[in-house]
Amino acid sequence: MDNSFYITTPIYYVNDVPHIGHAYTTCAADVLARYYRLRGYRVLFSTGTDEHGQKIEKAAWDLGISPQELVDKMVVRFQDLWEKMNISYDEFIRTTDPRHIKVVQDFFRLLDERGYIYLGDYEGWYCVPCETFWPESQLDERLACPDCGRPLEKLKEESYFFALSRFQEPLLQYLESHPDFIMPESRYREIESFIRRGLKDQSISRVGLEWGIPVPSHPRHTLYVWFDALINYLTAAGWGSSPDKFSTFWPSTYHLVGKDILRFHAVLWPGMLMAASLPLPQRIFAHGWWTVEGEKMSKSRGNVVDPYLMIDRYGVDRFRYFLMREVSFGLDGDFSEKALVERSNADLSDNFGNFVHRTLGMVWRYKKGVARKPSPYQDEEWEKLLEEVKEGFHYHMERFAFSQALEQVWRLVHFANRYIEREAPWKLHKEGKEKELEDLLYRLLDNARLLSFFLYPFMPDTALRLRELLGLSPNLEGENWGEALQWSLGPEVYSVREAQPLFPRIVE
Ligand code: ME8
Ligand code: MG
Repeated sequence: MDNSFYITTPIYYVNDVPHIGHAYTTCAADVLARYYRLRGYRVLFSTGTDEHGQKIEKAAWDLGISPQELVDKMVVRFQDLWEKMNISYDEFIRTTDPRHIKVVQDFFRLLDERGYIYLGDYEGWYCVPCETFWPESQLDERLACPDCGRPLEKLKEESYFFALSRFQEPLLQYLESHPDFIMPESRYREIESFIRRGLKDQSISRVGLEWGIPVPSHPRHTLYVWFDALINYLTAAGWGSSPDKFSTFWPSTYHLVGKDILRFHAVLWPGMLMAASLPLPQRIFAHGWWTVEGEKMSKSRGNVVDPYLMIDRYGVDRFRYFLMREVSFGLDGDFSEKALVERSNADLSDNFGNFVHRTLGMVWRYKKGVARKPSPYQDEEWEKLLEEVKEGFHYHMERFAFSQALEQVWRLVHFANRYIEREAPWKLHKEGKEKELEDLLYRLLDNARLLSFFLYPFMPDTALRLRELLGLSPNLEGENWGEALQWSLGPEVYSVREAQPLFPRIVE
């Protein structure tokens, strides 16, 4: 358990067209998964699609097909996008998968046996598009959804309830003894005060909605989509089916979510787990929202950012880099193509790409593509910087501070570019100092090797192309990170490929 991590994204509503919000959470989870794999951890990385609910049932009827046919068609959009974005998930949970349905029904039975489920009457207001019940206390006279503003439907019907209110005190106690349970800290405080205001029991079933998982003993009822969806995290971890897998990965679990769905993850979900006597996940991290050129992103505004289009235009690694670098994870950010182009021209073309291109060019110009390891091999200044960067990088990665982790990495890039100016290899060549020149070029190549590790979680294709250019094995995850990231442990000889620009500048 100490050597393993379970990293999750939400499972996305399958009937939405994938947008930058989906790409964002999933990319961040992929960065974490690759980072921990590189460090030698066993990683389980899960994502998936949320395929039940009234919205999907209605959409299928409108098209004259069955809900299952509809979701089978739509799920491909997500799976294709994740392939394009190099998302290295291990599990893809579809809530219509029989193995998930079984887990949800078993979980319901368990909570029922433990006395946390009862049959009652639900009376309230429901937002069909958001699939959320709203208590009257949160509504004004317009009776519109507080989230999306659309009209609510009044519901009064028999319903199963989950006794969430019984977990108010245990949850507060848990929060108090686990200050890192919810991050960032502002979200922790938000959830804490939400719980303090009082928890109500949660209606978890509906009658008259067919497209859902039936309540085992009472199939006229289907389970509330959030109850169904949250349990995907247990399905993916092998709860009830693979005890070894489950004990390896649960509860060393990181849930990544957007801030809008934090309450479900930080209140309802921990309550459900407590009711089942399961340990709570290690951490829930809520990230912020992207606006688009200063405006809220929405279908009606027609400004939804299409990740496919961004990747076609700029390539997957520019897109991934921008998402992770542009804003501090946890804060809101603004997306624009102009900002993406500016950032990738500055950081990726002018700084990083230029360093690699110049270095390889010089190795060819002066040394026919070959540089042997200096002996003795030392550079105190550089080595000290590397130690600082490593420490800072791990520190930030362990705290989901992706942008700050990348800033650390760029210290190595900037240092190398300044080093080239300062040491002036062309002068050494002119003066016939061939040994010094080769030593210098080796150091630059070794800096590029170190960069391939740091960059791999963020830009896997680029990291592997870089290693190819350096003549190194592409099998990064098989390397021992601790050993590989040492100043003196590069290969005896670098025999490099012809320089090719990794990130040609984008001219608009
Ligand atoms: O909520 N910027 O699914 P979903 C950043 N099925 N993130 C954004 C965003 C934006 N502009 N818009 C949306 C669901 N998101 C449930 C989850 S999990 C047990 C069930 C994020 O398809 C949003 O915060 O609506 C959420 O994390 C995800 O994208 C969309 O999820
Ligand atoms: Mg949503």
